[in-house]
Amino acid sequence: MRPVAESDVFSGAVDVRADFPIFSRQSDRPLVYLDSGATSQKPAVVIEAQAEHLRSHNANVHRGVYALAEEADAAYDGARRRVAAFVAGQPQATIFTKNATEAINLVAYSWGRAHVGPGDAVLITQMEHHANLVPWQVLCRERGASLRYLEVDEHGELSLEQLDAELARGDVRLLAFAHISNVLGTINPVAEMTERARAAGAVSLVDGAQAVPQLAVDVGALGADFYAWTGHKALGPTGIGVLHGRTELLEQMEPFLTGGDMIASVDFQETTWNELPYKFEAGTPPIAEAVGLGAAVDYLSGLGMERVRAHERSLTAYMLERLAEVPGLRVVGPPTAERRGGLASFTIDGIHPHDIAELVDRAGVCIRAGHHCAQPLMRCLGVGATARASVGVYNDRADIDALIDALQAGREVFGL
Ligand SMILES: Cc1ncc(COP(=O)(O)O)c(C=O)c1O
Repeated sequence: MRPVAESDVFSGAVDVRADFPIFSRQSDRPLVYLDSGATSQKPAVVIEAQAEHLRSHNANVHRGVYALAEEADAAYDGARRRVAAFVAGQPQATIFTKNATEAINLVAYSWGRAHVGPGDAVLITQMEHHANLVPWQVLCRERGASLRYLEVDEHGELSLEQLDAELARGDVRLLAFAHISNVLGTINPVAEMTERARAAGAVSLVDGAQAVPQLAVDVGALGADFYAWTGHKALGPTGIGVLHGRTELLEQMEPFLTGGDMIASVDFQETTWNELPYKFEAGTPPIAEAVGLGAAVDYLSGLGMERVRAHERSLTAYMLERLAEVPGLRVVGPPTAERRGGLASFTIDGIHPHDIAELVDRAGVCIRAGHHCAQPLMRCLGVGATARASVGVYNDRADIDALIDALQAGREVFGL
């Protein structure tokens, strides 16, 4: 008898592919989309919510007194309330940005430039996306601070002992790290890490770009001072990201960008800032995108994030099992799906990752290849690039089977 595999533990698969119009597009090849780590596909309810807003409720926000403008205000502010509630955040401490990258830059500029100085340190990890690395590099260089890294071990995990040792040095002002690594898939122990940072007097920032689309996130329970994520990976539109911050910190911070909605009053020489969250939303915000993101989080809530995670965990376990059948294939990151999000990055002896992605595309399979905006991590792993397959709620086992078949066919092309 076949032993019970990790992928068999969960059987209540989610079947929502019909909700996503892209899977009905006419093409000479079936669409096997395994690149949700880069961006997710969108359900019809998101596309329609955004279109309906533009069709019937479009006006600028927080400016007009006419009825149509009030509809737009209600749509925008209502979207913020739903997005905040989705991760158990507070609406006034939920700031809409352009993407996760801008959310992190906001903290680096507004909080970082006021609190990090010569002799201080910013502590990040070797597994960070450039979005959660370069802003800290620039800040540290500008302020004469040092940037230190927590190491990634051979299973793609961080060490809490190393975190304790780094914090014990007494100079760490900020700890910034990914909730889920976009390369390794590692799910980091966020609450344990933020608690340690707080005990050491450091502020914490969590990059939740990969986590919010696939886990039930409660920003309060996670204990991060700042939590950043991005709409387009969470079934929402591009052009909108989210920053949740601790209200006291946001209130003390100076604005990041200036002009437009973020002012209370302007005189020839002086300006006073608007209240939260508007203080951090300069210019016309992403209104239709917020409406789309509101529809996306409603859709995800309707499915239930526990189910979404269970579905993707089961698929990831299945993917790990099936990838192990491919000769010469090496997966990086945690060995089981329990400790990882819905992705697997891998190399195959004798085939460059870009060739792998091109070969599987011949069978309509979309995966990513490259350094995944994590070049320092690639150096730690001793590779220039990896191929990465990442799942979404609309994937099923047949997609994984198509990937494996395409990889096996690709090996043959290379005479392996
Ligand atoms: C872990 C992680 N952080 C940040 C980002 C940046 O997201 P965005 O490009 O939407 O700002 C990504 C996107 O790939 C990511 O995977």
